[in-house]
Amino acid sequence: MDSLKEHTIEKAITLLSLGGIVALPTETVYGIAAIATNDEAVAKIFALKKRPNFNPLIIHVNNLEMAFAFGIWSKTAIKLVENFWIKKHKPLTIVVQLKKESPLSNLATAGLDTIAIRIPNHPLTLKLLEKLNKPIAMPSANKSSCLSTTTAKDVMNTFPIGLSMIIDGGHCSVGIESTIIDMTTSEPIILRPGGTATEEIEEYLKKTIKNHNDFSVIKSPGLLKRHYSPSIPLRLNALVSHAEEAFLGFGKDAPHSINLNLSVKGDLTEAACNFFKMLRTLDDPTEYKGIAVMPIPNYHLGIAINDRLKRAATKR
Ligand code: TXA
Ligand code: MG
Repeated sequence: MDSLKEHTIEKAITLLSLGGIVALPTETVYGIAAIATNDEAVAKIFALKKRPNFNPLIIHVNNLEMAFAFGIWSKTAIKLVENFWIKKHKPLTIVVQLKKESPLSNLATAGLDTIAIRIPNHPLTLKLLEKLNKPIAMPSANKSSCLSTTTAKDVMNTFPIGLSMIIDGGHCSVGIESTIIDMTTSEPIILRPGGTATEEIEEYLKKTIKNHNDFSVIKSPGLLKRHYSPSIPLRLNALVSHAEEAFLGFGKDAPHSINLNLSVKGDLTEAACNFFKMLRTLDDPTEYKGIAVMPIPNYHLGIAINDRLKRAATKR
């Protein structure tokens, strides 16, 4: 790592240690980080995002020792860690029981007796975690219920003030948030579809995994019905666009009238990577009255995209 990057990381560590909040790149989306044991710093994140206090944050670590220090891990949960974190470096957040003596901020865990934890995969953020040697609490770097950010510029436009620093790590390679899996129940449950396809987890565990939609109670307090919303209305499964609508396409058969194409090849991984960035580009009330989006196939990362689209289209 070059000395400029080293210097940037040192500066971020100093600011975090002083109770500041810093925007960091991950492979999924940008996040706003605070040291997870510092209640006051964590409170700043909630205030800046205008996030409801009942909605807990994901704790980010860079090694298993730290992950095991805060949570109680079943054999199957450890199996997931070994494959998806260590071997494949995939975006998977695992919910486990919180250890009673945990020093983590109660605000970060929203007072729950469980904890959501993941190892992010971005060289700058991994380096920062290694040097800091403390866990960070880090939600996505967007205002609560709005579109997530996948570039440092989008973070800057969203939060021109309030952040101690933004680390620019380029465009996020995955582009959509981590998959969240609940391992505190007798059978695993996907709480949020995301950058690790459910099919891949099912194949690895050799069983079908239920989605939280199959249950009546909402287990993930952050899974609000309306979320990830642009400022103008969204119309789903559109085959044509109406007057004054922006048109977001998918696949090689998209009509000429589209403004942008999530993936000309029809590749769902590429579409996920472009998703938030393209929605942000088209979210321009001075140009358009709404955004029409073509149908996205509902498998693999298409499931995560459709989950975001459904919430984004839910009326205020
Ligand atoms: O990819 C990601 O996961 C990004 C990057 C920055 O790491 N982070 C992210 O954080 O998406 P956030 O705060 O936007 O979403 C975290 C979700 C929320 O829906 C929250 O309710 C849920 O995780 N969550 C956190 N702790 C939980 C817990 N103990 N049980 C169930 N859900 C939990
Ligand atoms: Mg979020």
